[in-house]
Formats: sequence, structure tokens, C-alpha cells
Amino acid sequence: MAIRQIFTDDAPFLSKVAKPVEKFDDKLRQLLDDMADTMYNAQGVGLAAPQVGILRRIAVIDVGDGIVELINPKILSCSGTVGAIEGCLSYPGQSGYVERPQRIIVQAFDRHGVMKVYDAHNLFARAVAHETDHLDGKVFLSLVTEPPEGFQQYEAEE
Ligand code: NI
Repeated sequence: MAIRQIFTDDAPFLSKVAKPVEKFDDKLRQLLDDMADTMYNAQGVGLAAPQVGILRRIAVIDVGDGIVELINPKILSCSGTVGAIEGCLSYPGQSGYVERPQRIIVQAFDRHGVMKVYDAHNLFARAVAHETDHLDGKVFLSLVTEPPEGFQQYEAEE
């Protein structure tokens, strides 16, 4: 386990489309362990492989319910919309109001190559949307809009 460097701002990896994982081997599992360490060390709730310079379709998420590892994730359905203030470990000090689906059903492989399906709501759904965007070279700053008048952040999403 090791903490990896998180690339920031205009690092070229952050705007590229990541390639699917093909081998579920020890190297992948090492990367997943390192990504979890790196995310927890930075006190984030999600981290995508391109943020540590690896252009593969891998993300880790922990919104407080334990680590979720998403490999080659595919969003099956989205519903509802929730706006919240969002940030990103690759854009320290920046945040903005972003609307995301309230619920996302996503399928992904785990570290052993077993396909799983997650029914993600609220902050988990936000993290799934944010991290899968990273795998397509898309960052949250491109989605920031003006919050509606009277908007107040839910405490659970701070
Ligand atoms: Ni991010």
C-alpha cells in the first residue's frame, strides 16, 4: 500500500478518455489498494485512476459505508436530480454547484473480475457520476452552474 501523487489542474491525464481494464491481476489490486490509501489520506470520497496518472477505467469511492471499487463501470440508469456543492481532489480549493442524478444504477467489475451492480443514491450517486466522468476526461468544473436562489447545502453532503 502506498500513497500516490494526485495530479491536479491542467495535468494531461485529467482530460483523456481512460481505457478499459483487461487484466484482473495483482498489479490491478495493488493499484486499487494504493488508490484507497491515497483517497483516504487526502480525505476524499472518491478517486479515479486518471487522477493518479493511470489511464484505466478504475475508481474507488467511500461515502462513509466502506470502500467500493468500480472497474470498467457502466451506468445502467439514472433518475432524479439533486444539486449540491461539489469539489475534486484534482482541483484543490475549487468548488461549485453541480446537479447530478439522485439515483444511479451502475454495474462494474470488482478486483477479482466479478461483475456487481450498485443501486446508488444521493452522495453515493454523486460520487459515481463524478468518478465515471473522470474516466471520460470530464471534470466537475465543466458542469458547475449557479445554485438556485435560497439553495442550502445538505449537511450530509458537506
Ligand atoms: Ni474528482
